[in-house]
Amino acid sequence: MADLLKKLRKYSKKKIYPFHMPGHKRLFPHPYLGPLYAIDITEIEGFDDLHDPKGIILDSMRKASKLYQADETFFLINGSTAGILSAISGTVGQNDKIVIARNSHKSAYNAIFLRKADPVYIYPPYLKEVKIWGSVSACEVEKMLDANPECKAVFITSPTYEGIISDIKSIADVAHNYGLPLIVDEAHGAHLGLSKRFPESAVHLGADIVIQSIHKTLPFPTQTALLHINGNLVDRNKIKKYISMFQTSSPSYVLLAGIDEGLNFIEKNKSRLFKKLEDNLDIFLNQCNQLKYFKIFQKSMMTRDYIFEKDNSRIVVTWNEIEVTGSYIMKLLSENFGIQIEMAEVNYIIAIAGIMDTKEGFKRFYSALEEIEKLIEQEEKNRKKSSIKKVEFVINPPEIRFLPSEIEGKKIENILLEKAIDRVVADYIYLYPPGLPLVIPGEILSKELIFHLVQYLESGFFLKGISQKGKYLVNVVKE
Ligand SMILES: Cc1ncc(COP(=O)(O)O)c(C=O)c1O
Repeated sequence: MADLLKKLRKYSKKKIYPFHMPGHKRLFPHPYLGPLYAIDITEIEGFDDLHDPKGIILDSMRKASKLYQADETFFLINGSTAGILSAISGTVGQNDKIVIARNSHKSAYNAIFLRKADPVYIYPPYLKEVKIWGSVSACEVEKMLDANPECKAVFITSPTYEGIISDIKSIADVAHNYGLPLIVDEAHGAHLGLSKRFPESAVHLGADIVIQSIHKTLPFPTQTALLHINGNLVDRNKIKKYISMFQTSSPSYVLLAGIDEGLNFIEKNKSRLFKKLEDNLDIFLNQCNQLKYFKIFQKSMMTRDYIFEKDNSRIVVTWNEIEVTGSYIMKLLSENFGIQIEMAEVNYIIAIAGIMDTKEGFKRFYSALEEIEKLIEQEEKNRKKSSIKKVEFVINPPEIRFLPSEIEGKKIENILLEKAIDRVVADYIYLYPPGLPLVIPGEILSKELIFHLVQYLESGFFLKGISQKGKYLVNVVKE
């Protein structure tokens, strides 16, 4: 048992009466939740302070730095969201420019909004073969920095939701040549760097700040994440100040104990568990070669030479020759086979694999895909088409009228999407998951963009930022 949990359990057994928060007084009478409440304390004496760690929490954070070989690590109990908000806030200020990949999570745009910063977007290439955004290239970053030398930081996401990994080392070299820090949103890559069997983590490739959602791919409680800092390019005190601002002043010790416990577990079991994962994946991916319509996205599918690595534990199932949407496949998997996947896009689905997966789980997934192929083949024969046309979300970068922060205070009106051509959008429009905005406040809705949004909506997808009560309505800036 790790130190923090041991201490919490010991404390809960003492007869100390709690005239302090939390209000459940560690006595909530519930058969399942009761044991959690028994160790759910707040920052009382002897239990350190997440906002200024000097004792047991600092020791645990150092354990994380050692595991990931980072210079310094901070615990986040408000997800990578808190880390991204802090990393951007601590590196850019009002009107400062930041180079940011356009396929970033909404928390990055929220940080830009809060800091009134000025984003310079990089659009990763669109991999037409699989209809997925590709990696960010060092050349593109260099081009942007050349054109905008006043930038204060570079922010990219790697791996992406689909497991695409950019060439971090080259991007870090470019950013450093301009004296700028590279921030990597590695929310989907907390398992990287822990085993030679998977690609390296950005922590080891020159990134200055790396944010990882340990809860996404490793056995840690939901909401837990890490922010690692390397080198001296970033002002650590500033980052710490913002981490403290974006996290609750009453952190959950259940979550903190979960982090501490998880770190010990990984350290002790990583070689065995990563080997098991790789073996399971090898068998599964090999089996999938026998499928008729479904193809697992792998780099070898690319007809052009793109620079990226692919994390194999992110299982992206694509298809051709059959006319179905990802949401339809997701529904079949859940309703007919009891398998819940991570997300569906129009043209693919994503399943997250990890070190806690079982051989049995992979077997079920493969059998379900096999069965679904038969089912769809039957449907196609009966001309009972499931839905859909093929959707490609290749759009020209939208024209930007205002910075996201400049929208605040403007008069807004809610109008029909089809009537919103050339209007300035006032809300983020995105599919969740993954939560990557398709349109950002301040951008102009072109006819082409509206056409693509409608394609999403008509394929049965719910887009945040568009109200769907009988008709499609969108908030735009009043003219
Ligand atoms: C790429 C990316 N970054 C950041 C986040 C935010 O992570 P968290 O849920 O840990 O706050 C997500 C969430 O899905 C994400 O997909």
